[in-house]
Amino acid sequence: MTLSNADYIFVNGKWVGPGEALVPVEDRGYQLADGVYEVVRVYGGRAFALQPHLDRLARSAAELEMDLPLTLDEVGALVKEAPGRRGVEDGQVYIQVTRGAAPRVHHFPEDARPSLVVYASPLRRQPAALYETGADAVVVPDERWLRCDIKSINLLPNALAKEKARRAGALEALLLREGVGMTEGSSSNLFIVRDGRLETAPASRWILRGITRDIVLELAAQAHIPAAERFFSKEELLSADEAFVTSTTMEVMPLARVDGQAIGAGRPGPVTKTLMAAFRERVRAEIG
Ligand code: PDD
Repeated sequence: MTLSNADYIFVNGKWVGPGEALVPVEDRGYQLADGVYEVVRVYGGRAFALQPHLDRLARSAAELEMDLPLTLDEVGALVKEAPGRRGVEDGQVYIQVTRGAAPRVHHFPEDARPSLVVYASPLRRQPAALYETGADAVVVPDERWLRCDIKSINLLPNALAKEKARRAGALEALLLREGVGMTEGSSSNLFIVRDGRLETAPASRWILRGITRDIVLELAAQAHIPAAERFFSKEELLSADEAFVTSTTMEVMPLARVDGQAIGAGRPGPVTKTLMAAFRERVRAEIG
């Protein structure tokens, strides 16, 4: 794939090149993390599961009492346009909305207009071997705020957790919320399989309700795999038969080890493999 120098970043109402794609220093996203975002997967130049991502963007913005500068359909049209502007076949589209630029105050400013950024990037793919062998993960404390259901651009606790994973030689950090249980990954949702039953944390303020998570739950139902939305403990994770994480960019990623301890047989199990295959089939069916 060749990267063109075309105007592929939508910012301040128009498509510009990277050198012109600038936001003011008083943008509230920059100073206060006062914004929301989405990451949409692109296969063959086409956006996958676009509508659920747009719906979640609208919900996140509404929860922060933030207006979108365009209609949801207009944002959707920009997302569809973005990959072609950069020649991206296999990649992702990043969408970010902030409350806009205004002299710095904490409360909502009167005169700020929300700002929207949309652009596509080629995918930084995980090594294919990881899907065959399963990845490593570590458990770290969940130190995020109490509204993890909002896809806010404040990702500092997530970034710190992911860095701990990286330093431990692991792909993902799995978050353990005191008094709640295992919630999710630093940028993914977490599933376990016990006695043939799938388990994942309930959609609640403690997790981001992943689009991939919901598709996997739907695929499990179609495959007659029983599923329960419940919080499980770290001990239940470590003693599970299988475990995997899901996200837009990783799809369904099997976990071989957590904190160095093998999960089940220490390689992708049958339920995980069934769901990995069903997910890829789902992508083929939607993208063509
Ligand atoms: N992250 N949980 C968290 C905390 C996430 O950041 C993500 C996605 C998910 C999975 O959601 P989805 O299946 O809708 O991608 C769960 C994106 C990919 C990111 O920040 O890059």
